[in-house]
Amino acid sequence: MDDRTMWAVRMHAFGEPEVLVRERVPRPVPGPGEVLVRVHAAGINPPDWYTRRNFPSIPAELRPRWALPLIPGSDISGTVAALGPAPDGLPEGSTAGATAGSAEPRWQVGDRVHGLVNFPGRGAGYAEYAVAPAGHLARLPAELDHLTGAALPMAGLTAHQYLAHLRPAPGITALVNGAAGGVGHLAVQLLRAGGADRVIAVASGRHEEFLRGLGVDRFVDYTATRVEDAVRDVDLLFDTVGGPDAHRLLPALRRGGRVAPVFFGDYRPALAAELGLAVEERTWQVRSDGAGLAALDALVAAGAVRVAVAGVFPLAEAAAAHRRAEQGHLQGKLVLHVAD
Ligand SMILES: NC(=O)c1ccc[n+]([C@@H]2O[C@H](COP(=O)([O-])OP(=O)(O)OC[C@H]3O[C@@H](n4cnc5c(N)ncnc54)[C@H](OP(=O)(O)O)[C@@H]3O)[C@@H](O)[C@H]2O)c1
Repeated sequence: MDDRTMWAVRMHAFGEPEVLVRERVPRPVPGPGEVLVRVHAAGINPPDWYTRRNFPSIPAELRPRWALPLIPGSDISGTVAALGPAPDGLPEGSTAGATAGSAEPRWQVGDRVHGLVNFPGRGAGYAEYAVAPAGHLARLPAELDHLTGAALPMAGLTAHQYLAHLRPAPGITALVNGAAGGVGHLAVQLLRAGGADRVIAVASGRHEEFLRGLGVDRFVDYTATRVEDAVRDVDLLFDTVGGPDAHRLLPALRRGGRVAPVFFGDYRPALAAELGLAVEERTWQVRSDGAGLAALDALVAAGAVRVAVAGVFPLAEAAAAHRRAEQGHLQGKLVLHVAD
């Protein structure tokens, strides 16, 4: 095989999982300030299949318009294979892979790295090689394997960045809806690590043992119990589910409580106001952030946060992985294995 091409999973049309085809494509070349990563594992996230289906559940005005063919995927874990030229603004002879005007990490070939790359935007992670701006990557700690490294970035950064934005006070009672999923299972742990007094997890019954193992104080099976009848006086609702009936959980909050919608939902502003609740803007969006990921890595490496990998598929079976992901009820993350 020549070194100008690589295997990747690409789509030439929007549609069902079958549009994901493994084929040989040109290997990307890192530009100024970018790093070429030999991908060992790629994480699967909901935006990957929203992209594949051309974003049907996203309001039309917010829908990205992307040209085909495209390689999906934004979460990667691998090793640095090459460095692009130093970016403009850095003195001649600067180490390639650095970013202009900042103290970004200066990567070297062979470094183990991972990251949420080029997000929001096109990551092209379902491939043997991917390029990433140097600042989108974090060093993968020795304690973490590449499957874990690929599982963590988007889900972890979503919880991490949203909680950094909300700055919940210590001692609160938090309710995490969709608690067993990629974002949810990390949010419950970050809330705990951040000093929440009580974390209540809402998920289907099959996830109770898993979530209790992650340290939640109370588990509510939404398939057997109406959460809004069973729970009261919540300070913060961290809602990864949303949807047209998202407002049903509002009575579980105390007056002055806050709602953090991670996905689009109808929180009925009039009802929220009547109940004295603050609903955060849903325009909030996770972003690539190597430094934030490094902070999360420290928690994972220390054993304070556990990353659950629900399933691993070979790169060539990306379509099967998407089919599984879209069935829902995940306990943690799905990951594509690309190379040892
Ligand atoms: N704002 C952002 O920047 C951002 C970033 C990342 C993700 N997101 C969005 O956040 C959402 C969650 O992402 P994810 O990666 O965590 O997805 P995921 O891994 O598929 O997890 C979703 C979880 O929700 C649970 N669930 C489904 N219906 C439920 C219900 N009615 N009540 C309670 N739980 C329910 C599912 O399992 P059970 O039903 O078995 O409990 C599953 O564990 C997605 O819509 C994604 O697009 C937004």
